[in-house]
Amino acid sequence: MKVLVTYYSDTGNTKKIASAIYDVIDTDKEIKAVQDIESAAGFDLVFCGFPVHAHSVPSKAIDFIKQLPQGQKVAFFSTHGSQRGGQLPKQAFEHAISLAVKANILGHFGSRGQVNQKVIDMLLKSPEHKAWGEEAQSAIGHPDEHDLADARKFAAEMIAKARN
Ligand SMILES: Cc1cc2nc3c(=O)[nH]c(=O)nc-3n(C[C@H](O)[C@H](O)[C@H](O)COP(=O)(O)O)c2cc1C
Repeated sequence: MKVLVTYYSDTGNTKKIASAIYDVIDTDKEIKAVQDIESAAGFDLVFCGFPVHAHSVPSKAIDFIKQLPQGQKVAFFSTHGSQRGGQLPKQAFEHAISLAVKANILGHFGSRGQVNQKVIDMLLKSPEHKAWGEEAQSAIGHPDEHDLADARKFAAEMIAKARN
């Protein structure tokens, strides 16, 4: 089995999750930024990760997701400033799944990711965005060791699923 881990990451959080996933893959594997990948052809399983931007998928990951081949086994992962299990990060996965029209989605995993301080400062200044700014601020230190352990567990589950 040949596995690709690909990710888009601005400030390194999604890349950290990608590396944790990559570490547990016990077969032929490759890890690359999504900008450096032309196609997923030839891979039995693709892990594809992105940071949630404006409740959705950043444009740099969209083109890759859209061209995932027919029947391609895919596991999505993301990082986001908001709390885990919330509705908004779930929406971003739903959007990613809707873009991967022909692919076979095996599952998805989300982790909190520390938010750029400039973004937080901007949010805290605006009364309208203050609550979200405070939530974003509480993601400091993520992804942490627990998040990385959860990512490894997710990766092992997806690999087992892909082999079935
Ligand atoms: C422009 C921008 C928009 C963002 N929008 C959201 C959002 O809508 N929801 C959220 O939970 N986090 C949001 N975040 C926080 C990022 O998703 C989070 O910090 C992520 O871990 C960054 O990943 P990276 O280091 O791989 O780039 C945003 C960050 C930026 C810079």
